[in-house]
Amino acid sequence: MSSQTIPVDPFDYVVFGGTGDLAERKLLPALYHRQIAGQLSEPTRIIGASRSELDDEGFRSFAREALKQHIKDDEFDEPQISQFLQRLHYVSVDATSDRGWDNLSTLLKSGEDRVRAFYLAVGPSLFGEISERIRGHKLIHDRTRVVVEKPIGRDLATAQALNDTIGQVFAEEQIFRIDHYLGKETVQNLMALRFANALYEPLWNSAHIDHVQITVAESVGLEGRAGYYDKAGALRDMVQNHMLQLLCLVAMEAPPSAAAEAVRDEKLKVLRALRPIDAGNASKMTVRGQYRAGASAGGAVKGYLDELGDADSNTETFVAIKAEIENWRWAGVPFYMRTGKRMAERASEIVINFKPIPHSIFSASAGHVIANQLVIRLQPDEGVKQWIMIKDPGPGGMRLKHVPLDMSFAQSFGVRNPDAYERLLMDVIRCNQTLFMRRDEVEAAWQWVDPILKAWEETAQPCQGYTAGTSGPTNAIALIERDGRTWHESR
Ligand code: BG6
Repeated sequence: MSSQTIPVDPFDYVVFGGTGDLAERKLLPALYHRQIAGQLSEPTRIIGASRSELDDEGFRSFAREALKQHIKDDEFDEPQISQFLQRLHYVSVDATSDRGWDNLSTLLKSGEDRVRAFYLAVGPSLFGEISERIRGHKLIHDRTRVVVEKPIGRDLATAQALNDTIGQVFAEEQIFRIDHYLGKETVQNLMALRFANALYEPLWNSAHIDHVQITVAESVGLEGRAGYYDKAGALRDMVQNHMLQLLCLVAMEAPPSAAAEAVRDEKLKVLRALRPIDAGNASKMTVRGQYRAGASAGGAVKGYLDELGDADSNTETFVAIKAEIENWRWAGVPFYMRTGKRMAERASEIVINFKPIPHSIFSASAGHVIANQLVIRLQPDEGVKQWIMIKDPGPGGMRLKHVPLDMSFAQSFGVRNPDAYERLLMDVIRCNQTLFMRRDEVEAAWQWVDPILKAWEETAQPCQGYTAGTSGPTNAIALIERDGRTWHESR
């Protein structure tokens, strides 16, 4: 079975930071995959823009290498590659001076009628200057959009300042704030599961759900991003954005439609209903961890401090939080979140734990009745498992068994699972904001995160060490077990 691809209008994607890491690992491969899928219309161009002194050919060689590294061998199709490379152009521009901007302007003039997207794959400190120069050189027309990546600030105040800066040049409808988790196939499937089935929604509340777990475990460490990561830490890097977005999609009310404003209004209400965590309860509701030397991804790995080269860092590489949503639907239903680097394996999932049956009619010999669980697996092995009780088949009386109704997407549909960026890059061209964060969402998320950061600082909440290759510090286990629950281990 193949999915249907609807071509998008011709566009010019201008990628600032065109020779950077994000362009190399994600953006160029994603755009190439969209070409193979037949989604790009003519004439479409991808314009690399950065300080490096390159020409079109130099950028094409860079892109060819990037594709070689980051797509599968059997996807490297020479005729497709050369067609793709022909779309690529390069302009050497300086974000902090006028150098090169006239060349960019001339190039874009030859595509006035196309959708024009500026992707700011650069550090946030350059967002303001680039936006100003885009405006100053009159590069904005009525089909222009701008795409920005996290980190959008490091607290509420800096996020507001950044949003103000971009907002002075672009209208909110033109600003696409990427949270790549929203582009993941299974995350979108969560919306389908909840709102395209009659089955779950009546049970989706505190009367039937005991608690929710959201785990995003990574096996990687710093990956050469020490400078950024040590100043951020897991709370800013993963919770403020990805984890809270997942929580919102699980917890939000049914929006009246899938339109961007409808969905984002509902997510915002969830963020605003989160019970504050501050110095008064942070030590009870949060756990910070930092990995020590151990083994991960098949080999010995250094501890965080060694990898960083700074013995004094107190940055958390793991965080676990018990979050509570103060509204009618979720009162009394904790949302346990945990995320960390250098954990046992890369595994991300959302687990909805239903309440136990009120009374068992079966005798003790039938076995224990285990409460239903819905496991939404984000990565790897995307899919959904609904764990239910059945009778163990065969003679010998009633014996109960806990088994999954298993829907592994790759097996069921036999289609390649697209990278999140493929969907998101095309949504920018289609001008569909549903899977992008609105300004008030980003700020509401910071509003909840800021007091946690402040509490950690004020109370000097320590990081507990955990051995690389394990499932995090013991305090994180205690966080959930003292409520009489346990973390779900992927099976
Ligand atoms: C990024 C974080 O936003 O998400 C990284 O900055 C993290 O630290 C990454 O590794 C995880 O993304 P994915 O898609 O690999 O789960």
